[in-house]
Amino acid sequence: FRTAAVIPAAGRGVRLGPGAPKALRALNGTPMLIHAVRAMAASRAVSLVVVVAPPDGEAEVKNLLAEHALPGGPPGSSWGRTEYLVVPGGESRQESVRLGLDALPPGFDAVLVHDAARPLVPVDTVDAVIEAVRDGAPAVVPALPLADTVKQVEPRADGSPEPVLATPDRATLRAVQTPQGFDHDTLVRAHATVTGSVTDDAGMIERLGLPVVVVPGHEEAFKVTRPLDLVLAEAVLARRRA
Ligand code: C5P
Repeated sequence: FRTAAVIPAAGRGVRLGPGAPKALRALNGTPMLIHAVRAMAASRAVSLVVVVAPPDGEAEVKNLLAEHALPGGPPGSSWGRTEYLVVPGGESRQESVRLGLDALPPGFDAVLVHDAARPLVPVDTVDAVIEAVRDGAPAVVPALPLADTVKQVEPRADGSPEPVLATPDRATLRAVQTPQGFDHDTLVRAHATVTGSVTDDAGMIERLGLPVVVVPGHEEAFKVTRPLDLVLAEAVLARRRA
């Protein structure tokens, strides 16, 4: 059973403030993307990582990977048996993922799609996702219960107070993380046939009418989106080293 990971890393990261593309910003001196690649390579089941680079940053990403990976990767890391490829990304996350899928050589049974912006996902979460795909689920998402109550509102572009339309029962809601795991052929079919925008890959599988299942996510798999998330991510890394 062969598993590849596609890492979309082509976003600008506007919400993080001005600077380099988000995936290339450093956490404790190492680019977020490198942490994310290591998180995938940490799983013994992952034999190939496809990094989808910013369209104008392909060479830079190739250099970064070469610098941080073989030869002489960190002791105990699994870079030694994990190969990687770099391809240029697209306008949307969805397009970037499709370009990553297009670059996969034949022979993979499962594909993980993992945001570069979730650099600290623990290997146990990665393995739990792969395990559920191996057990036959066409799509698997790691997810956590919500801490906050969520309101559905009527968005107002003019900044005036937004009317609340409904309050979904929090007990039935989950915040979804990555890596999301897929049966390879199912994900390829979804990217070839589903049109319209979705915010995650599993949403495309839902559009095909196929089941998506949830496995427990992890608080360290949070997405680095805003400046405060960088502080949190560096604190998590410091705690791991302690
Ligand atoms: O913008 P958001 O935080 O949802 O991005 C999630 C992931 O998708 C990030 O890792 C980002 O680099 C990636 N992305 C991409 N291509 C785009 C937009 C986002 O690979 N055009």
